[in-house]
Amino acid sequence: MAPSNLILSFILLAFTAAAQDPNASPWQIAFNTTTSIGPDGPWWFITQAVDFPDQKLSVFPSLSETSIIMSSGACSALNADCALPIQAEWTPSDSWKSNNGSQKQSEPLDPTKWDDRVSSLLGLDGTGYYAFSRMTLYSNGNTGSLAYLDRHGLFVSDSMRAMYPGGAAYTLNVGLLSLYGAKELASWTGVNGSQFEANLTLNSAYISLYIPSKSFGLHVGSVAANIGGSLILGGYDSSRCLTEPITSDSTTFKLFDISLNVTRGISAFVNTDKSTISGLLQTSGDQAIGLEIQPEPGVPYLYLPKETCDAIASHLPVTYSEELNLYLWDTKAPEYPEIISSPHYLVFSFSSGADGTDTSNINVPFALLNLTLESPLQSKPTPYFPCSPWTSTETVPYHLGRAFLQAAFLSQNSHTNMMFLAQAPGPDHSAQNVKKITTTDTAIKSASNPPDWESTWTGTLKALTSSNSSNSDSGAANGTGTSSGNGGTETDTSDTTNPESKSGLSTKAICGIATAAVVGLGGGAFALWYFALRKRHQQSQHSRLLQPQELPPSPPGYASPAVWGRKGDGSPMTSELAGMPDGSTQHRYEVDSEYSDKGPNELDAKSRPAELASNSRAAAVELA
Ligand SMILES: *[C@@H]1O[C@H](CO)[C@@H](O)[C@H](O)[C@H]1NC(C)=O
Ligand SMILES: *[C@@H]1O[C@H](CO)[C@@H](O)[C@H](O)[C@H]1NC(C)=O
Ligand SMILES: *[C@@H]1O[C@H](CO)[C@@H](O)[C@H](O)[C@H]1NC(C)=O
Ligand SMILES: *[C@@H]1O[C@H](CO)[C@@H](O)[C@H](O)[C@H]1NC(C)=O
Ligand SMILES: *[C@@H]1O[C@H](CO)[C@@H](O)[C@H](O)[C@H]1NC(C)=O
Ligand SMILES: *[C@@H]1O[C@H](CO)[C@@H](O)[C@H](O)[C@H]1NC(C)=O
Ligand SMILES: *[C@@H]1O[C@H](CO)[C@@H](O)[C@H](O)[C@H]1NC(C)=O
Ligand SMILES: *[C@@H]1O[C@H](CO)[C@@H](O)[C@H](O)[C@H]1NC(C)=O
Repeated sequence: MAPSNLILSFILLAFTAAAQDPNASPWQIAFNTTTSIGPDGPWWFITQAVDFPDQKLSVFPSLSETSIIMSSGACSALNADCALPIQAEWTPSDSWKSNNGSQKQSEPLDPTKWDDRVSSLLGLDGTGYYAFSRMTLYSNGNTGSLAYLDRHGLFVSDSMRAMYPGGAAYTLNVGLLSLYGAKELASWTGVNGSQFEANLTLNSAYISLYIPSKSFGLHVGSVAANIGGSLILGGYDSSRCLTEPITSDSTTFKLFDISLNVTRGISAFVNTDKSTISGLLQTSGDQAIGLEIQPEPGVPYLYLPKETCDAIASHLPVTYSEELNLYLWDTKAPEYPEIISSPHYLVFSFSSGADGTDTSNINVPFALLNLTLESPLQSKPTPYFPCSPWTSTETVPYHLGRAFLQAAFLSQNSHTNMMFLAQAPGPDHSAQNVKKITTTDTAIKSASNPPDWESTWTGTLKALTSSNSSNSDSGAANGTGTSSGNGGTETDTSDTTNPESKSGLSTKAICGIATAAVVGLGGGAFALWYFALRKRHQQSQHSRLLQPQELPPSPPGYASPAVWGRKGDGSPMTSELAGMPDGSTQHRYEVDSEYSDKGPNELDAKSRPAELASNSRAAAVELA
């Protein structure tokens, strides 16, 4: 081994030690709030990089086992019913093709072969296939470090559509980022007959030591109320968790009841003179004793028994649409604007406490349940109430989707098989406070000194008074003792703090994360020394290493993420990306070692000599 190789071996070993530091920081995934997505939203989404070079695709977080992306042409092939404006289609890159990606993909498969549960809820038809592709996680949007999930397994939709009973449909236009940690691998038969296995998304991030545990904390936020989304892998933002979390040791929670409530002012609910109505969780006309429901951010609606949806709807100005299996708001009814702009809530009561005898409520303001169906589901924007009657089956229980999760915090730790649900705040939430979830955590803590959840809405939801309520002349003004009679005191609160400034990650937090990352690698000075050393030894070859346009901006003192790209075992990044025609360094550094059995301390495990000769001149010079 040449002396320079010995030095580099030492460095790699040092990195191995650093990489096995168990103190990986929670990883923040930014929601993209520059625009929102339909056709049944508006919803925030995440811009997720796939393949090399990065292709930025729109995804929703999901508990689906496997992430799913849309193939190029999925929309154009079926035209008409794609939900514009955002298309999120993946076009196989030259690197993917030259690494025989298409030989390794599966035959076209039915959506249930991807995820029976989620595809049933979405009513998917069409086909897709399993494939390998890199996924690159950007920490905090594009301002932090990068996690390369290589030889990662995902599903690609070719032609999958969400179908509605009356024949309306839309081509899936948004992928799903799997947060599911209980399963490690996807396996499938490739088109060439070979069996393939690949790490699933959360597992891949965990075993590569980018995150401290297979866990997440999520609040999808709300477009209408301008609450940004929050997603942390290996941790959670406690400012999104206002109440003592309801815990479950499975993937479902026991829903005990559903109520309507008005917390301030008078009620505009219809067919009642009360402002609090309970007992709405019904099956077959009876009040249900409790239903197992699963939270699922990858699906849009509240999937509840028809009797329950009908019971709620009987107090709202909505009509059931059989074609859509949803309820449409009667926009001409005077109660419609009243209910969605004042503190009228749908209250979900869950069993909680050690023996499940307590109940804990999650309040969802109707302001968040004024969602909109757009083309291609409806020819013109149509406000709808997102209850979608569902019949539970053994594999697909009742579900609470994104509509509910706009107002609820969801977290899961796959190591201890615990799931957590709590009240999330409204627009006036406090500053981010990221907490780690470790592999042994069976509980998480809510925010310390959290604001009262209702106070996070007072700036947005104005109480109805007898002077502006359509109910005022019906003698139904007050309800059952819940009105505190302070409706008139809510004036002029519209100048409350801008929620955006509160929900953003502070500069301090960004610095903290960047510093932590460098320290985790053995110190900034060492990092710079290592980089300088490499630069000296491989000047020409590495001239592209820091090409700014290929890499996100790095905080001061923080070397290029490409330099630090590494796997958990300390070996350099491996990837599907053999044979980048442009010979780019980011690729070169992560040259495919999927066929290599060499250990991490062997420098040339970085790339196969055979491939270097043909595909990567620079690396060949370096390693020769
Ligand atoms: C947000 O999404 C838009 C639309 O897809 C895209 O153009 C933009 O680059 C995304 N922003 C980020 C930071 O990813
Ligand atoms: C791709 O497959 C061909 C034969 O089908 C093989 O010769 C070639 O080595 C493969 N390339 C890679 C990168 O696996
Ligand atoms: C299928 O393709 C992969 C990747 O190119 C290759 O490693 C494997 O040997 C192929 N299997 C068969 C049966 O040709
Ligand atoms: C999963 O990832 C780990 C770490 O990168 C790797 O060692 C392992 O081979 C991968 N498993 C599969 C099936 O690709
Ligand atoms: C309704 O709101 C009032 C006032 O905030 C509260 O005291 C009461 O417990 C709520 N009822 C339900 C069923 O949530
Ligand atoms: C309700 O949704 C419609 C679009 O469907 C929108 O025009 C309206 O502004 C929304 N109302 C409120 C109070 O958010
Ligand atoms: C509610 O009822 C109380 C008496 O029950 C009455 O004094 C009060 O004015 C009513 N409030 C409104 C807003 O009508
Ligand atoms: C009703 O009137 C009160 C007092 O005049 C006002 O503060 C509130 O914003 C109004 N509510 C709605 C929904 O217009």
